[in-house]
Amino acid sequence: SQITRSFQFNLEWTEVSRLCHRKPLLTVNGKYPGPTIAVHEGDNVVVKVTNLAARNTTIHWHGIRQLRTGWADGPAYITQCPITGGQSYSYNFTVIGQRGTLWWHAHHAWQRASVYGAFIIYPRMPYPFSLPIQADFPIIFGEWWNGDIDAVENEMMMYGSGPNSSDAYTINGLPGPLYPCSNKDTFVQTVDRGKTYMLRIINAALNDELFFAVANHTLTVVEIDAVYTKPFTTTAIMIAPGQTTNVLLTANQVPDSTGVFVMSARPYLTSLFPFDNSTTIAFLKYRDTTTKQITNPIIPNNFPLHNLPKMEDTAFATQFSNNLRSLASAVYPCNVPKIIDKRAIITISLNLQDCPANQTCKGYLGKKFYASMNNQSFVRPLMSILQCHYQNLSTTVYYNNFPEKPPHTFNYTGVDPLTVNLNTEFGTRLLEVNYGTNLEIVLQDTNLLNFENHPIHVHGHNFFIVGKGFGNFDAANHPAFYNLVDPPERNTVAVPSGGWAAIRLKADNPGVWFIHCHLEEHTSWGLAMGMIVKSGSGPNQCILPPPQDLPSC
Ligand code: C2O
Ligand code: CU
Repeated sequence: SQITRSFQFNLEWTEVSRLCHRKPLLTVNGKYPGPTIAVHEGDNVVVKVTNLAARNTTIHWHGIRQLRTGWADGPAYITQCPITGGQSYSYNFTVIGQRGTLWWHAHHAWQRASVYGAFIIYPRMPYPFSLPIQADFPIIFGEWWNGDIDAVENEMMMYGSGPNSSDAYTINGLPGPLYPCSNKDTFVQTVDRGKTYMLRIINAALNDELFFAVANHTLTVVEIDAVYTKPFTTTAIMIAPGQTTNVLLTANQVPDSTGVFVMSARPYLTSLFPFDNSTTIAFLKYRDTTTKQITNPIIPNNFPLHNLPKMEDTAFATQFSNNLRSLASAVYPCNVPKIIDKRAIITISLNLQDCPANQTCKGYLGKKFYASMNNQSFVRPLMSILQCHYQNLSTTVYYNNFPEKPPHTFNYTGVDPLTVNLNTEFGTRLLEVNYGTNLEIVLQDTNLLNFENHPIHVHGHNFFIVGKGFGNFDAANHPAFYNLVDPPERNTVAVPSGGWAAIRLKADNPGVWFIHCHLEEHTSWGLAMGMIVKSGSGPNQCILPPPQDLPSC
């Protein structure tokens, strides 16, 4: 019989101080990071969100499939109108066929800077690995801004580039001793010698892919995006915003007199210019060691920390992601579509716009950044697309004619002038597919302004990464090398900078689903699109009716 688990989320302002800066922060229940939600596979989950902050908001349950319950997915103006100040909305959904670590975050403006937390789904069956787990704990990466996040976002939109880094990366909301005033703001996890722990690692940072390592200890990867993987052991992981990774760590080392080992995270970037290179650290503390007062170890930023790759270590990042494989066992089979009905080739690009007269622009070459998919820069409407779609409203709010091929041919092998795609269209066009379509999407980075991988997130579906590479996708040759046996299954893929990734999914969840870069900056600039999955004619192939308390615009 099904269990309903209910939670109350109050969105409220809370005074928080980090780095000697105190400011009111948007939080859930006064917590930063927000509360952990823990449920079991198969549970019905009801989270009542009450907005006490007089600031429009929505919450997204990142990676939860929301089968037939798109009304509970959360992205503002895609599946719902925002919850306004004083209003409540109950997100009501069932966790079907998923287990592991996911997370939740605000999906309106840049609110997820402080409104995020872990979403843990305990399995009904034993873990498919034999090591007994002593305990599990979340390791959540985030970013802290000394200033007001709305101001950062506004500057970004207005000047076509803002302060391109936060003031600190954080682990479980704490920057750690490499940052000013942060000795006390250091996360410490205590472990017992000889025991094995599961670290539920979540990258909730807004704009950076990160490397993570624990000094002297290896990490065994067992799950990504709430899907079991073939276990493999590594000295560090790479994790993109939106992604989650479960690793096992055995406390089998002998600490020195400090009693602690450093856990550290810093960005992975393909170009060192012009980003933040700072490092957040936390401590793994052995219980049986008499610990001295931990004081600032005075490690300079970008100092080689044990096991932590260099910021520009693309070889490590590539090798790490090549090691990820679905478990593909009898109990947890890999359901990758072997045959596809449709292939859409979608370019992902940053673009530059001339600076409007009488304005100052802070983007590259004094221009203004924006971003696009297939040269469509996504504009959010001011109505809920799902609602319009459900009510069959013929509107001018959105169109279902997203181009399946790039409308502009980029010169991938040569160097295009940065102004090459000034013909980008700003609008709200969605890709529409029939229920049950086996869809392949080839995400192709362009050769314009490649600084970093783009973590592309698909709502409402998991997908299989069947192939990826650097340079151009070649439809005549690359598909022959696809992995259709045990490709990694996830909800967010880091598309290699200057390369491509081919993903496959079965469009078996009717509704409207957001697809976007999980670098908040890029989403704001338009690196987003939507997918409409039409209802099928069979039973249970349509979306359920909207809840009574669904907000209206
Ligand atoms: Cu984690 Cu559309 O987001
Ligand atoms: Cu991006």
